[in-house]
Amino acid sequence: MNKLLGAASALAITMFAAPAFADPAGCDDGEMVIKFSHVVAEKGHPKGEAAKQFGERVNQEMEGTACMEVYPNTTLYDDDKVMEALLLGDVQIAAPSLSKFEAYTLKYRVFDLPFLFASLDTVNAFTQSDTGKSLLTVMEDEGYTGLGYWLSGLKQFSASKPLLLPSDANGLKFRIQTSDVANAMINAIGGSAQKLAFSEVYGALQTGVVDGQENSWCNIYTQKFFEVQDGVTETNHQTLAYLLVTSTEWLEGLDPAVREQFLKIADDVTQAANADVANKEAACRQNILDAGGTIRELTPEQRTEWVSTMKPVWAEFEGDIGKDVIDAAVASGS
Ligand code: SIN
Repeated sequence: MNKLLGAASALAITMFAAPAFADPAGCDDGEMVIKFSHVVAEKGHPKGEAAKQFGERVNQEMEGTACMEVYPNTTLYDDDKVMEALLLGDVQIAAPSLSKFEAYTLKYRVFDLPFLFASLDTVNAFTQSDTGKSLLTVMEDEGYTGLGYWLSGLKQFSASKPLLLPSDANGLKFRIQTSDVANAMINAIGGSAQKLAFSEVYGALQTGVVDGQENSWCNIYTQKFFEVQDGVTETNHQTLAYLLVTSTEWLEGLDPAVREQFLKIADDVTQAANADVANKEAACRQNILDAGGTIRELTPEQRTEWVSTMKPVWAEFEGDIGKDVIDAAVASGS
């Protein structure tokens, strides 16, 4: 290869090997780079806003020592890949939904049990209980440490036709997260379930690959799912919450003073985010209505039907989760 051609191909290799996004935080040389990858919208979403806030706090308070780059909206990894990336050291922080840890622990299935938590306050109470706190470290043998729980909302169903009774879901296909509890729940209402990555849900709804899905108000609003559905039914049937998670090896490898400062910021951000999550969810619900979306509320009788159809799935998962864990969650106020 002549020199000119060689230089041209070296330039091309450099250009194409470069990441497809700019360094979002502008980290300085010598600072430890902490990458935080997640899958939701950056703005108007409890997790997106909390992640942004986490990055801002680290970048202000740990300047010169550490710098956080936040990658929203699946721009870096989806929730399956991010778990591998944590162990490889390609990313340091993630916050997948608790439904997505089935390959590592079955204990988090407690968060998926339908109609276990009546409100975000009861989810919060459980995460603050001794049992909830002990679940942060159940994956340490797998190399992961939980730093805290970030709440997102209760889940609502949406579909291509009105859903007022569980029997309305008969024969419909629903997108679910990688959760066997969700699978059992959809079977209980006579539907079929398809596990799909979050970034694929809008397209799958739009093209009819699936007929419906279940999610928090802010995911339904920020991902525009309501635009490609007949309507959303306010079922509040399950919890959407995240584990703020890191690699145990990375965390233990930090200088103790740096680790302490980092964990303090993580804790502050967690508490502030969880204190505001109900407001964000209410705003997203209102935004759906303002944008012309349809929301259907259930009568007490209709709700009773959903509860009695779905709650029997608890028994199937009690052995995996542990009765003690379920009892502690119920004691937090269902
Ligand atoms: C998320 O809120 O992080 C995604 C949840 C989903 O996959 O539905």
